[in-house]
Amino acid sequence: MKKILVTGAFGLVGSDLIAALSKKYPKGSLVAISHKAVADSEALVEKADIRDTETLAKIIEKHGITEVYHLAGLLSVASEKNPQLAWEVNLGGLKNILDLAVKYKLKVFWPSSIAAFGPTTPKVNTPQHTILEPTTMYGVNKVAGELLCQYYNLKWGVDVRSLRYPGLTGYKAPPGDGTTEYSVHIFYGAINEKHYSIFLKEDARLPMMYIDDAIDGTIQLMEAPVENITIRTSYNFGAISFTPKELGEELKKLVPDFTYDYKIDERQKIAETWPQSIDDSQARKDWGWRAKFDLAKMTKTMYEGLKIKLQK
Ligand code: SER
Repeated sequence: MKKILVTGAFGLVGSDLIAALSKKYPKGSLVAISHKAVADSEALVEKADIRDTETLAKIIEKHGITEVYHLAGLLSVASEKNPQLAWEVNLGGLKNILDLAVKYKLKVFWPSSIAAFGPTTPKVNTPQHTILEPTTMYGVNKVAGELLCQYYNLKWGVDVRSLRYPGLTGYKAPPGDGTTEYSVHIFYGAINEKHYSIFLKEDARLPMMYIDDAIDGTIQLMEAPVENITIRTSYNFGAISFTPKELGEELKKLVPDFTYDYKIDERQKIAETWPQSIDDSQARKDWGWRAKFDLAKMTKTMYEGLKIKLQK
């Protein structure tokens, strides 16, 4: 029987992933790791720090874990604030999981990001194989992590699979401190205050994706036959590409009295180093990737879902 461990289980991706996996697998198949106490989850919750290999090993043995979705990590802004901690958690944590994957023969998913690219990368329709010279700590962690995944696959045959997530938009978890998360905060602004000040420039075009697509793609990649997987660093993973202004205007169609302006901060500098759109043809070819949400569908689903969540 499949026994799945999810780290970072209460973040933006983890919250939706746990919900999707718990629909798919019988009760008792899911274990979630959190470094803080959590009240409620569809999974069994174990408290552990991703840097603590011994505790992780005990949890894996206790539950007979066979697969790991390793999502624990600091996002771009938090990593800039504390690069030392980002290195320990983002890269040290990944290495711990990969070492445990060798020992316990685990299949692993780990997310990379568009942050693996940098200012020297071609920005439009960014290819799968291209220049990776990021200038943020988060991006440095992602490139090193991608190479580490490939190394563990080549050296020890670990079946580790990865996606370069674009900016993700979802409402189940509260938004964190990512550069692309203006696209979540803006919905809270529209519902709570009918106003939001966007921290990126109006034309900061970035590759983005609605969370349901990200979760579907993640599970699809993990379920693809092993012989289809030709990329062991991380797959380019695309859906939509929009600017803050395009999202603001789309949201105004649903909330006509919503207003927005711009209060640009240091996150704009990070955004400027990332691509505008992604060529994900390898993922399409290898395991049939297709996104389902365009900007209009994403905006409507986010708005309606968050309104219910906030009981407005
Ligand atoms: N969405 C992430 C961030 O903005 C990038 O992977 O930090």
